[in-house]
Amino acid sequence: MTLPAPWDQYPVRISAATSQAELEAIEHELFGRKAGVLTVALQEVGKLSPEERKNRGSELNAVKQQIEAALQAKLVELKSASQGFLAQTDALDVTLDLPAKETGRLHPIHEYIREAEEVFGRMGFDAVTGPELETEHFNFNMLNIPETHPARDLQDTFWVSSLDRTVMRTHTSPVQVRYMTGRKPPFRMICTGKVYRKDSDATHSPMFHQIEGLMIGKTVTLANMKAVMEEAVKNLVDPDVEFRWRTGYFPFVEPGLEMDLRWRGDENQSREGRWLEVVGCGMVHPNVLKNVGIDPDLWQGFAFGFGVERMIMIRHQIPDIRLFFGGDLRFLRQF
Ligand code: DAH
Repeated sequence: MTLPAPWDQYPVRISAATSQAELEAIEHELFGRKAGVLTVALQEVGKLSPEERKNRGSELNAVKQQIEAALQAKLVELKSASQGFLAQTDALDVTLDLPAKETGRLHPIHEYIREAEEVFGRMGFDAVTGPELETEHFNFNMLNIPETHPARDLQDTFWVSSLDRTVMRTHTSPVQVRYMTGRKPPFRMICTGKVYRKDSDATHSPMFHQIEGLMIGKTVTLANMKAVMEEAVKNLVDPDVEFRWRTGYFPFVEPGLEMDLRWRGDENQSREGRWLEVVGCGMVHPNVLKNVGIDPDLWQGFAFGFGVERMIMIRHQIPDIRLFFGGDLRFLRQF
């Protein structure tokens, strides 16, 4: 039903409204308590004669009902439209599949060290640690390393200028001394950790990791040492790894030996000698035992120091030690 003038404009304006605020303004214009045009019109009905009052009253009531219905319908329409808009722009959509989260993991070296602690643990070795900042006393003197040894040179070692006679440890061997001091043999221990030298090329890094080991008893022999070393490389590198023994000089052992492992595969044919040194070892020098108060006439044993990165390099045919520390995830994710 179309409304009589002037009310016929309202259904048109209501349906054209584009916001709730606009709708409220129209509502106020009509129904405002003092000056709303429909409010005023209804009040004036009371001034009419009884006959006119009846006609006018029912006419205006019909107008009022129709306009209220139009306002209500438009309000519902505007509200649902604004919810649709929210649904399009709101960032939270609980139905979306999220991209998989990246999870962290241990560095391959760390993982390998845990494996080594397990392998040596099965052979009865305790796992210990020691400080990376070390005194000249433990790093060199107590290990029978002479003043003239090249490792003591500024060229080879990171001396800490702000501290007297202090170095970034050049090897994990000082932990042997720390461990033996005040302890009674027999014992078996390994110590893993970082060591520092001024070296850098495909097989040397200024920071690398070692597995130091020590076994002291009454009848521990060089044959025991070779058996333990061979067991270690078979478990930690490859059961079929090819190795060779050479004599080597380390002031803290006598005699001293070195073990090299052979690179597999043709792509390594051109490598220098195709062998990589992975461990230095030997029978603990009597002077070292004396330094820590152990009688070398009663006790004897062996010590060793593996290069961790080099063992992993042979195990996985990794050509350059620097790959371990470049932080390239394409490399790290392969392990
Ligand atoms: N400390 C030696 C190095 O870093 C490795 C080594 C050789 C450790 C012989 C030992 C050992 O315990 O007996 O080159």
